[in-house]
Formats: sequence, structure tokens, C-alpha cells
Amino acid sequence: MAQDRKPLALITGVSSGIGLELARIFAREGHDLVIGGQDEAKLTEAAAQLRAAGADVVTIAADLSRAEEVERFHREATGDGRRIEIFCANAGVGMGGGDFTQTDLNGELRLIDLNVRSQVHLTKLVLADMAGRGAGKILFTGSIASFMPGPFESVYSASKAFVHSFAEGLRNEWADRGITVSVFMPGPTDTNFFHRAGMDDTPAGEGKKDDPAQVAAQAYKTLTGNRHHAFTGSLKTRLQGKVTGALPQPLRASVHRGMTEPNDRRPVKQAGVGKAAIAGGVALAAVGVAAAVGISRRNRIVEEI
Ligand SMILES: NC(=O)c1ccc[n+]([C@@H]2O[C@H](COP(=O)([O-])OP(=O)(O)OC[C@H]3O[C@@H](n4cnc5c(N)ncnc54)[C@H](OP(=O)(O)O)[C@@H]3O)[C@@H](O)[C@H]2O)c1
Repeated sequence: MAQDRKPLALITGVSSGIGLELARIFAREGHDLVIGGQDEAKLTEAAAQLRAAGADVVTIAADLSRAEEVERFHREATGDGRRIEIFCANAGVGMGGGDFTQTDLNGELRLIDLNVRSQVHLTKLVLADMAGRGAGKILFTGSIASFMPGPFESVYSASKAFVHSFAEGLRNEWADRGITVSVFMPGPTDTNFFHRAGMDDTPAGEGKKDDPAQVAAQAYKTLTGNRHHAFTGSLKTRLQGKVTGALPQPLRASVHRGMTEPNDRRPVKQAGVGKAAIAGGVALAAVGVAAAVGISRRNRIVEEI
């Protein structure tokens, strides 16, 4: 890697979507890259684009849902004396399209292996290297679902709640030792995610989505600005994240259900929580957030949104 380049970044999930856009930004900003994904052909294609933008790029195809592959991935990423100075833990999958008795258990267990287990495993390896040097930056890809229990994708939402808590815990633990940890939380974004999750036939799958390039640009700022977390995407998504986060947990689940319930099951009465209650809760939270924004304008809360 050339001497005048910015710190080397390791990014997972670069064969498509948000990870690919994130890698494009890192390349444009002058970072060299180690990129991961499963699909070798797509990784090769991504690497060609990133090299055209001036980056030195190493590709490693690996199935990170398997522990031995995580070990190999890390071994190869740090081969030839490479020092990973930035780590973006982005690879992840969703699963929905039916109620919990209909979704595939093996798929859900693989989801946990990738979204949860591999994040812990790979972070353990990468952070150990960073700790030895007393420097490093880690960025996790969470989700707006981190804050919202997810009917009809409850395993996915729980996995992202884990990622969010994990990131914030590590951030505090390492803050005084030269290592920063941040997490960004996209809302519905225009990638392969919903199709792959079996969620094409849901309001979120069918609805308007955010631009992954915009999400990635905000994610990069979350990392470089050393923010603990940030909702990313359109203003609507960012406001939705803030507002929903102020609701009680059962209302958050009901709001989420409106996006994830398969179309052929809707509308369904929701026990104990009517639509009026949801609307009232959202309105109340919106007033609360608006008040907080008004009061704290001088403290740059608006920018935080
Ligand atoms: N799109 C959204 O609406 C949304 C919203 C919130 C959060 N997110 C999060 O954003 C991240 C990126 O997703 P995306 O939206 O960009 O979807 P995507 O286009 O489907 O990208 C997912 C990436 O993860 C990789 N991946 C999947 N399974 C893997 C495995 N077993 N081992 C290694 N890599 C694997 C994929 O590589 P291969 O294709 O080569 O398998 C791909 O590069 C995920 O963590 C997701 O949870 C997405």
C-alpha cells in the first residue's frame, strides 16, 4: 500500500448495497481497502471500480456465518503485514415474509451467526490488533430496527438491537484508549436486502427506499466525526428513527409491524394497541422531539438528526 494513503480500511459486505457504496467513499477519500463478501465475481467487479478510484484493494471471499471462515478472513486481511486501522462491520442479512412459525429456522440461525456471532468474533480479532497499537476506528452497521422490535422479522430486529448495544458498550470501554466505535442506523434502503430477506411482498419491501449512496456518505461522517450513533438516510427516515425511539416498546413494535407484515396478512387487529393509540403515541413523541429540537437547537440537535 502506498505511503501517502489514508488509513487502511477493512469493510465486510462490499459485494453490493450499502457496503459497496461505503467502499466507494473510502476509495474516493484516499483509503486503501480490504473488502469482503461471498460472491467472488461481484467482489472482483467492485475491486476494479475501487482501483479505478485510486485505491489499492485486496478482496477476500468468505462466508462469515462460519467461525472458521471468520478466522481465515482475518488471517488473510492482516496478511503481508497489513494493519487494519478502520473496520466497518457491515455484512448482514434479514429474514421475514411470514410469521415466526413460517420462517426458516436454519436461515434464522445463520442470520444470528452472521449478524451477531461473526460481529463479535471478527471484532474480537480486529480490536485486539488495534488495542496493541492504541489506535483504530470501528463502524458497525446497525438499523432503525435496532430500536424497534420487529414483528415478522423479530430475529433480524433482535440481531440489530444486539449490534447497537454491543457497539455502544465497546465505545465506552475503549474511549480512553485511542479506539473509537460508532454505529449507523439505516432505514429501508434500496439494496438487495428486502428481496434476500423474502420481504418483497411487505410495505417496506414495496415502499420507497433511501439511496444507499446517501446512507453510506452519512455513515462515513458518523465514523470520521466520531459520533456514537446516527440514523442515516432521508430526513423522513432520520426523523422516524428519532420519533420512534421516544415511543414505548409495544408502540414501536406496532409501528414496525406496519412496515414488515406480509401484504397477504394485512390488515390485522393488534391486541391491545389500536391504530388510534399508535397515531397518538407517534404524535406525542413527535411533539416531544420537536420540543427537544427547539430547546436544543443551539446544541446542534438538528444536525444530530
Ligand atoms: N437495506 C436496508 O434497508 C437496510 C436497513 C438497515 C440496515 N441494513 C444493514 O445494512 C447492511 C448491508 O445490507 P444491504 O442493505 O447493503 O444489503 P445487501 O445489498 O444484500 O448486502 C449485504 C452484504 O452482506 C454480504 N453477506 C451476506 N451474507 C454473508 C455471509 N454469510 N458472509 C459474508 N458476507 C455476507 C453480502 O455478500 P454476498 O452478496 O456476496 O453474499 C453483501 O455484500 C446489513 O448489515 C443490513 O442488515 C440494511
